[in-house]
Amino acid sequence: MLSLLLPALLAIQALAAMEVRVPEQPVVALHGSDATLHCSFSLAKPFNLSNLTVFWQLTDTQQSVYSYSGGRDQLQYQAERFANRTALFPAQLGLGNASLLLSRVVVADEGSYTCFVRVHDYGSAALLLQVAAPYSKPVLTLQPKSNLRPGDEVALTCAAYGGYPEASVMWQNGGGQNLIDNVTTSSVANEDGLFSMTSVLTVVLEANSTYSCRLINPLLGEEGNASVTITGQNIAFPPVALWVTVGLAVCLLVLLVALAAVCRRKIKESCEEARREAEEAKELEEEESKTAMTLLSS
Ligand SMILES: *[C@@H]1O[C@H](CO)[C@@H](O)[C@H](O)[C@H]1NC(C)=O
Ligand SMILES: *[C@@H]1O[C@H](CO)[C@@H](O)[C@H](O)[C@H]1NC(C)=O
Ligand SMILES: *[C@@H]1O[C@H](CO)[C@@H](O)[C@H](O)[C@H]1NC(C)=O
Ligand SMILES: *[C@@H]1O[C@H](CO)[C@@H](O)[C@H](O)[C@H]1NC(C)=O
Ligand SMILES: *[C@@H]1O[C@H](CO)[C@@H](O)[C@H](O)[C@H]1NC(C)=O
Ligand SMILES: *[C@@H]1O[C@H](CO)[C@@H](O)[C@H](O)[C@H]1NC(C)=O
Ligand SMILES: *[C@@H]1O[C@H](CO)[C@@H](O)[C@H](O)[C@H]1NC(C)=O
Repeated sequence: MLSLLLPALLAIQALAAMEVRVPEQPVVALHGSDATLHCSFSLAKPFNLSNLTVFWQLTDTQQSVYSYSGGRDQLQYQAERFANRTALFPAQLGLGNASLLLSRVVVADEGSYTCFVRVHDYGSAALLLQVAAPYSKPVLTLQPKSNLRPGDEVALTCAAYGGYPEASVMWQNGGGQNLIDNVTTSSVANEDGLFSMTSVLTVVLEANSTYSCRLINPLLGEEGNASVTITGQNIAFPPVALWVTVGLAVCLLVLLVALAAVCRRKIKESCEEARREAEEAKELEEEESKTAMTLLSS
């Protein structure tokens, strides 16, 4: 009966005399929490609740979220996904308050909701429900992880998950300057519609440099940050220099050994030569003396 009634309600809405008020600003509800969709209507005079009809529906699809008439819930047309999640505030109804309590809000609940009220006159108004979910603390990782040295190209990855809506990721260096080049940010939604954000910054490493990422949820503001400082200690002894040093050391050692060997041979040779020379000299001396003696004796 209600479904037949509603088009009629809508048709005469333009003529409606009842003022229905909802928040002008979007209603932000945290994922998993309960949200109150505020709706109130003006009353000329007291009324009997059995003469009140309240109808909440999705503005775009006109799916039924909740309805009340004849003094009680009328949930036979309620969309399945709202089952057991909706209630009015009964004590408030008579005071012109048709606010709806929506429990365990999920991402899929986001959208525009229309509140229809009828007592003697009709009125309606729509509000926007936005869902927010805080992200996990961002985690910063480096690729490659080790053997970093100045001049290396490194991929810094900032990741956070389980949030909504999509966040923006801002990269900064130690001086607080925004780094916008060579940044790739992507998001993936899980089955609940919650996002995992991944942002990759590619940089050429400089010694003593700091890089930080900040996660900004458009509905919840800045949610967290993570930073990494590349100090001299993080940077391993540069392998190229290491090999050059080792190579040079080995060369030097070989050179020294060769030099020592050459020297030893030279020393030996010169020693032998000296001995031979000495012997020769002695022989010569002996010969000479012999000659002298011969000369003397002759
Ligand atoms: C409200 O309406 C119901 C049903 O029409 C009736 O039984 C009840 O007495 C009424 N209450 C008042 C306060 O008028
Ligand atoms: C309220 O509803 C009752 C029946 O439910 C009806 O007899 C009565 O006229 C209605 N009152 C007004 C003011 O519409
Ligand atoms: C709603 O609650 C009723 C009774 O507790 C239960 O039988 C039904 O399965 C629930 N529906 C959903 C969609 O959770
Ligand atoms: C309507 O009732 C809700 C729940 O009690 C309350 O939070 C809200 O302030 C009420 N609105 C008005 C306009 O009284
Ligand atoms: C971005 O990357 C390119 C190629 O790797 C590089 O030439 C350029 O200097 C980088 N820009 C910045 C701001 O680091
Ligand atoms: C890096 O920082 C350390 C300690 O703060 C300092 O001794 C070193 O000179 C710095 N190196 C460069 C390249 O700035
Ligand atoms: C990083 O987050 C902490 C809180 O987690 C905050 O105190 C700090 O100011 C933030 N740093 C920046 C640069 O935003």
